[in-house]
Amino acid sequence: MEQEFSVPQGRFRLTRQPYRKNELLQAWDAADDYLLHHLAEHEALAGKNIAILNDSFGALAVALSEFRPTAISDSWLSQQATRENLAANAIAADRVLLLDSLSLPSAPIDRLLVKVPKTLALLEYQLHRLRPLLQPDCRIVAAGMVKTLPANAWKLLERLVGPTVPSLARKKARLIFAGFDPNIRLPPNPYPTYYRLTAEQPPICNHANVFSRESLDIGARFLLQHLPESALYRDFIDLGCGNGVIGLRLAELNPDANIVFVDESFMAIASATENFRSRFGDSAQAKFVVGDCLSGFAPASADCIVCNPPFHQQHAIGDHIAWRMFQQAHAVLRPGGELRVIGNRHLNYHITLKKLFGRCRQLAANAKFAIFSCEKA
Ligand SMILES: C[S@@+](CC[C@H](N)C(=O)[O-])C[C@H]1O[C@@H](n2cnc3c(N)ncnc32)[C@H](O)[C@@H]1O
Repeated sequence: MEQEFSVPQGRFRLTRQPYRKNELLQAWDAADDYLLHHLAEHEALAGKNIAILNDSFGALAVALSEFRPTAISDSWLSQQATRENLAANAIAADRVLLLDSLSLPSAPIDRLLVKVPKTLALLEYQLHRLRPLLQPDCRIVAAGMVKTLPANAWKLLERLVGPTVPSLARKKARLIFAGFDPNIRLPPNPYPTYYRLTAEQPPICNHANVFSRESLDIGARFLLQHLPESALYRDFIDLGCGNGVIGLRLAELNPDANIVFVDESFMAIASATENFRSRFGDSAQAKFVVGDCLSGFAPASADCIVCNPPFHQQHAIGDHIAWRMFQQAHAVLRPGGELRVIGNRHLNYHITLKKLFGRCRQLAANAKFAIFSCEKA
C-alpha cells in the first residue's frame, strides 16, 4: 500500500519492500518524522555533506534528496525501497548515493543522521568506520522509537563520537544529539568477529550485522545434523545464508554441487564469501547473491533449497519473509526438487508448507525445532 508521508521537506508517496498488496505497516515511523522536523527547524543543510545510516525504506533519503545525501545500509531491501520511492516521487536516482554497509563515503561528513538499528553491533561498526570521516564541527543526530531504542545506543555514541543529549520523546520517538569530541581515541574495531565450529576448520567470520554472530545458532546446529547428501541433487541454494554455515556443510557433503548463497544483508554475503574461500580456497566455485529471497532466479533451476528463515524484518516481527521464501522456493525448484526448512515448533510452518507443496514430511524434531522436507511435484 502506498502512503503519503507529509513532513516540512514535502509530501512523499512511500512504500515498503518487499511490496505486499494488503500492507498494514507504514514505510516510515515517528522517529523519521521527528528527525525531519528537527532538521527543518534547526539545521541549514544546503552545501553540507550528509550521511544517513540505516534508513528503513528511504523516508529520510527521499525527503532530503535535494541535499544529495549518501545513504548507507546493510539491507538490500532498504536500498531497493529507496530506489523505488525516489522513482515514485519523480526524483532522479542519482540524488541519493546508496552505499552498502561495508563501503565508506569518499568525502568528509558534516551531518550524520542515524536510524538506530536493531543490531547495535552494526551501529558500533559504522561509528568505528565513519568517525575518521566526521568533520570537527559535524553534528550527529540519532533517531529511534522509545520502545526499541536501547540504553546502550547512548553509551556507544558517547564512547565513539562524543557527548550526547537526548530530546524529549514525541509520538513515542526520541532523538539523541551527539557532538564530536576530537579527544576520543578509538578502541580497536571489534568486527568482524570469529568463532570456531571445529578445531580443524578455519574460524567462521561474522561481520557486525550477521545473524548469530557470536556463536552457532541452535536452530542452525540442529539443521546441520540433517542436511541432504544426495547424488541426485546438483544445484543447491542456501536461502537466507547469514554467515554461510549451512551452505559450507552442503558443499562438504555434496562435493560436486553448485551452491548459491543468498541473503538480503550485504554483511551476510561478505561473511559467507569469506568463509567459503577460507574453507575451500580461492579457486573453489560458488555463487553469492545479495537480493530479496529468490527474486530474479529462473523457475525450475534448483534441485535443493535449504532454509533457516528469518522471523523479523528490521523491527517488525512476523513470518511474511519466511512465507515469501517458501513460495519462491516452490517456483525455483525443479519437479522432484526439495525444500528443506527448519522452524521453531510453535510457528507451525508445516501447515503452510503442506498447502504449498502437497508433499511435506517432518524429518526430525527436538524440544524447540522441527525440520521439514518438502518435495515439488
Ligand atoms: C535465521 S537467519 C539464518 C542464517 C543462517 N542460514 C543460519 O542458519 O545461521 C535468516 C537469514 O535470512 C536473511 N534474510 C532476511 N530477509 C531476507 C530476504 N528477504 N531475502 C534473503 N535473505 C533474507 C537474514 O539476513 C538472515 O541472514
